[in-house]
Amino acid sequence: MTEGQQTNSASGEGAIIITDDDLEKFCEFLYRKTGIRIESKKRYFLERRLIERVGVMKCANFRDYFSLLHFEDAGRELQQVVNLMTINETYFFREMYQIDCLINSILADVSRRKRRQGDRLKIWSVPCSTGEEPYSIAISLLERWPLVDDFEIEIHDSDIDSSVLERAKVGVYDERALHLLPMMYRQKYFTPRSDGNWQIISDLRGSIDFTLVNISNLSHTWQYRDFDVIFCRNLLIYFDDVSRRQAAEMFYEALSPGGFICLGHSESMSRMSSLFVPRKFADAMVYQKSPQRL
Ligand SMILES: C[S@@+](CC[C@H](N)C(=O)[O-])C[C@H]1O[C@@H](n2cnc3c(N)ncnc32)[C@H](O)[C@@H]1O
Repeated sequence: MTEGQQTNSASGEGAIIITDDDLEKFCEFLYRKTGIRIESKKRYFLERRLIERVGVMKCANFRDYFSLLHFEDAGRELQQVVNLMTINETYFFREMYQIDCLINSILADVSRRKRRQGDRLKIWSVPCSTGEEPYSIAISLLERWPLVDDFEIEIHDSDIDSSVLERAKVGVYDERALHLLPMMYRQKYFTPRSDGNWQIISDLRGSIDFTLVNISNLSHTWQYRDFDVIFCRNLLIYFDDVSRRQAAEMFYEALSPGGFICLGHSESMSRMSSLFVPRKFADAMVYQKSPQRL
C-alpha cells in the first residue's frame, strides 16, 4: 500500500478509515511515549486495535481519537492504548540460568560489599509483566540463598502496562505460566483454586511491590536509585538503538556502584552502551556498573 492510501477494515457505511499517514503518526507518538517501535508487519494488528478503540470511545473518526489521546488530561485512554500494544509473554522460571547466576554468583559479590548484616539489598524487576519473574526471584531467594535472612531484601517490580500489574498483585496463574516451576514450590507457595488455577500465597504477594513505570519516562524513573541488581529481560528487543541507549543510561543511574543488570537472552548491553562491564559467571553473562564511584 502506498503512502496516503486509506485502510478501511470494516466495510459499509460509517466504517472507520485509518490512512497510512495516520498509522505513521500514531507509531511515532507511541514511540515517543514508550520507546517501542512497532514493526511494519504488525501494522494490520495495530490498525484493528485502533479501529476498536475509536469505536469504544465513540469518536467520529481516527483524527478525533488521536487528539483525544494527546489532550485527555487523565491519560486514561493513552494507558488503555499502551496496555493493548504491549507484549506480555512471561512464565515462571523463564531463562532460569540468570536467576541461577543471581543466587550462585551475583549475590556473593553484592553481599561482600554490604557493610553490616541487616543492610538493604535492592532488586528491580522491570518489566515484570504479570509477576512471574519477580515471584520466581523471590521463591529462589527463599529456597536457595543461604544469606536470605541476613539482609533486608526489597524486590521492586514495574511495568508500563497497568492491566498486567493488577494481575500480578492478584497472583493467579494457570498451568501454562507454571509449567517450569517445580511441584514442591507450587505446593509451598501457591494455593489451589476451584477453577484449576493457583494463587500465590498472601505472604509472598504482600512482600512484593508493583508500580507503574515507563522506563522511557524520566519522571517515572528518577526516584529508582541504589539498586544492587536489575532484571530487564525481554523488553529492549522492542526498542530501537536510541531508546535502548537511553534505557542503559537510566539503568546506570538506578544502580549502586558495582550493581548488576541481567538482560534477556537475545539482548546485549555491549551493543547499546559502554557504561557497563560484561561479567561472565558460570551460569550466565551479565553486566556490571563499575564498583568505584566515578
Ligand atoms: C515480554 S514481557 C517481559 C516480562 C519478563 N521480564 C520476562 O522476561 O518474562 C515485556 C513487558 O515489557 C513491558 N513494557 C513495554 N514497554 C515498556 C516500558 N517503556 N517501560 C516499562 N515496561 C514496558 C510490557 O508491558 C510487557 O509486560
